[in-house]
Amino acid sequence: MAKSDTAKAGKKSTPVDVCNHDTSSADKPEKLECGGHAHSPEAESRGATLKDREDSLRKLESELSKREIGLIEREIKLLGSQQELDKLRPLSGLYRVVKAMTTERKVDAMLDVITRETASMLRCDRCSVFVLDVHRGELWTQVAQGLEGHRTIRVPLSSNSVVSLCARTGRVINIPDAYSDPRFDPEVDKSTGYHTKNILCVPMQNRNGSVLGVFEVMNKDVNTFTQEDEEWLQALAAVAAGLIEQAQAYSEIEHFVDKTVETLAQTIDKRDPLTAGHSIRVTRYSLSIGDGMAISDDEKDVLRYAAMMHDYGKIGVPEAILWKNGRLTPEEYACVQTHARLTYELLSNLPFTNRLAHVPFIASCHHEKLDGTGYYRGLKGHEIPFLARVITVSDVFDALTSVRHYRNRMNIVKVYEIIDSGRDNHFDPEVVDAFYALPCDRVLRVMESERGGQIPEEVDQFKTISWLRLVEICQGSKPKRHEEGLKDLFYRIYNANLPPDYQELD
Ligand SMILES: [Fe+2]
Repeated sequence: MAKSDTAKAGKKSTPVDVCNHDTSSADKPEKLECGGHAHSPEAESRGATLKDREDSLRKLESELSKREIGLIEREIKLLGSQQELDKLRPLSGLYRVVKAMTTERKVDAMLDVITRETASMLRCDRCSVFVLDVHRGELWTQVAQGLEGHRTIRVPLSSNSVVSLCARTGRVINIPDAYSDPRFDPEVDKSTGYHTKNILCVPMQNRNGSVLGVFEVMNKDVNTFTQEDEEWLQALAAVAAGLIEQAQAYSEIEHFVDKTVETLAQTIDKRDPLTAGHSIRVTRYSLSIGDGMAISDDEKDVLRYAAMMHDYGKIGVPEAILWKNGRLTPEEYACVQTHARLTYELLSNLPFTNRLAHVPFIASCHHEKLDGTGYYRGLKGHEIPFLARVITVSDVFDALTSVRHYRNRMNIVKVYEIIDSGRDNHFDPEVVDAFYALPCDRVLRVMESERGGQIPEEVDQFKTISWLRLVEICQGSKPKRHEEGLKDLFYRIYNANLPPDYQELD
């Protein structure tokens, strides 16, 4: 409400407040206004009353003015706060992006977060982070929002695209109207079905000034990209460059460690052609169980290394015992048992990072049993790490379903009975359930993966049933319509290419 309106409203309300006596020497004009009886006591009294009213009015008016000024000042403050907030929005966006970047170790996950948060921060439709692959002379991006199904896009560095130009020149490119700019190729929109309105490209450079990639944002929600947007994106690109470089180096190291561990495990397995692939299969079964039990990414890494290296201590067991075609003597069995301790001792010499610090202990617990009768520490129940309990089930399953020197692959019904009878005393029942709930084709793929040759295409037919269901069918349960023929098909795959002269031995 305007100031004058408020004042009028105040005056209208005053007639009831009349003729209070005032003995002060009021001024004449006010006395005259009170009916013109300048010298009569009534006139004086009326004059004083009028003055009181006017004083009250003035006082009221002043109060109202103060209140209005207060309100206006508050409004100004709120407006100012909003503007301040608007200014801070990109800053808080930058904070979110940087925070996400520093908590993600892997390049793919980091790029995913960067693109999502940057688009929101700059209020635009799409953000893509192109990473330079120097060896292939390409820029690739794994996430292009709004393009479902196009998760990886590769652009030759030598192409005429705006991102390539930005990467080659190392300069910011801000195109307010794509279709009127010769640097934009409309064919890109034709192939993707997207309509580009405006583009901002900022190079991502490391401390040496080498271009590592390009930040590309498209279609600002209102108007076009501003100078301020350029500055925010450059700030972001500067932080991202360092972190992406770090994440790439981390990936390379991780890949190297993975391959080294795999090779070490294979050197043990390959001492004997019949156990070749055991460690890799145990690792794959274990990771499948882990997926089914929703373990974290960090746990998956620990599980992968521990499963891969669980039998590494076998390097200390003589081949004459490992390859023996028949039952082991008690002394030979005791010798084989030493491999669990040796696994721990050898792996403890490796400088695992904090995240992987439990790998040696977990790997060395794969022969422990829930009732404490396992080896080599004789741990009981929850003293055995959960991930070791996962490896134990995978290890026994793989040993029973593989050919050994003294026996053929065991029938899967018998394998089921052995594992089932070990619930609560040998195996963790939850892990057993998770294993038997796995999709049948997934188990078959692992089972057949290291037998040389290709995995038969028919394995696809087992997608719709679990491993447990296959066992039930093999036990004699009547197959449903979509399960017909699966039992015969399974045995055909399972018994193919087996050495003919091996005898089954319990
Ligand atoms: Fe073992």
